[in-house]
Amino acid sequence: MAREFRTVGVVGLGTMGAGIVEVFARKGLQVIAVETDAEAVERGRSHLTTSTSRAVGRGKLSQEDADALLARITTTTSLADLADADLVIEAVPESLDLKAEVFAELDRVCRPEVILASNTSSLSVTELAVRTGRPGKVVGLHFFNPAPVQKLVEIVRTVVTEQDVADDVKAFAATLDKVPVVIGDRAGFIANALLFGYLNHAAKMYEQRYASREDLDAAMRYGCGYPMGPLALLDLIGLDTSYEILDTMYKQSRNQTHAPAPVLKQMITAGLLGRKSGRGFYTYA
Ligand code: CAA
Repeated sequence: MAREFRTVGVVGLGTMGAGIVEVFARKGLQVIAVETDAEAVERGRSHLTTSTSRAVGRGKLSQEDADALLARITTTTSLADLADADLVIEAVPESLDLKAEVFAELDRVCRPEVILASNTSSLSVTELAVRTGRPGKVVGLHFFNPAPVQKLVEIVRTVVTEQDVADDVKAFAATLDKVPVVIGDRAGFIANALLFGYLNHAAKMYEQRYASREDLDAAMRYGCGYPMGPLALLDLIGLDTSYEILDTMYKQSRNQTHAPAPVLKQMITAGLLGRKSGRGFYTYA
């Protein structure tokens, strides 16, 4: 019989983590969200209230439903509070060491049958699975930004993921009104492996002053029907996250397509991370 997921844990309340929490809470699930300290919890909460207030403002959600949604979310700074979760997804920054540490701790805290998932965009899910005593119950569950809007989730199964685990997670993703696709464990999975060569190329064109940022973006929006241009999308994803994704893919394949454009590193060093820092290729209010 398929597993039931009523209470889900989310570790990390950054852009992706907060979006994932919203996806779960919208569907009536109880969510336990974990961050490192009170300040980070507050940032995550404010992300959630901004998003729900916007939905209320647009008439997409009643104030009553927004309040009920937020009431389903418990925040904490202790991973030990995930002991009651039926499934946990980790969405901490893209560092293998950091994620591996979280997985080892989750393995200690969560019941042995609980599935542990990672929202990693490009790191090896197998590497995370082997840090636990339950490698067969570890999968990738990769959401796209903004998580409440984008329909896709990539389910990454490793060579040791148990079949019923992959099946149950796929069925669960469908109950969230997402479109699940299943892929093996290779850097970039499907979407990022195809997308990031394009984004990197746009950053290189910008760096070479090939065209202005506005014209680069306009070309892809109005010529190819993309919802946003590549530089605006890099700002949305975050330049630091984008760099990590490119670097991981480059190190795995040595394909020049994914050799990060130097301008990305320079902008990161200067604190220009995109929307989340208020400035990237564009400046945000
Ligand atoms: N949280 C929740 N909802 C959001 C949101 C957010 N951060 N941003 C936008 N929305 C909602 C809006 O409320 C609105 O909802 P309704 O239609 O129900 O009113 C809807 O999305 C459209 O928003 P807007 O009208 O404000 O803006 P838009 O039409 O220009 O769309 C966009 C904004 C959804 C971001 C759109 O431009 C888009 O889809 N861009 C492409 C994004 C993309 O490619 N994402 C994938 C990145 S790769 C990735 O994420 C993988 C990885 O590992 C890094």
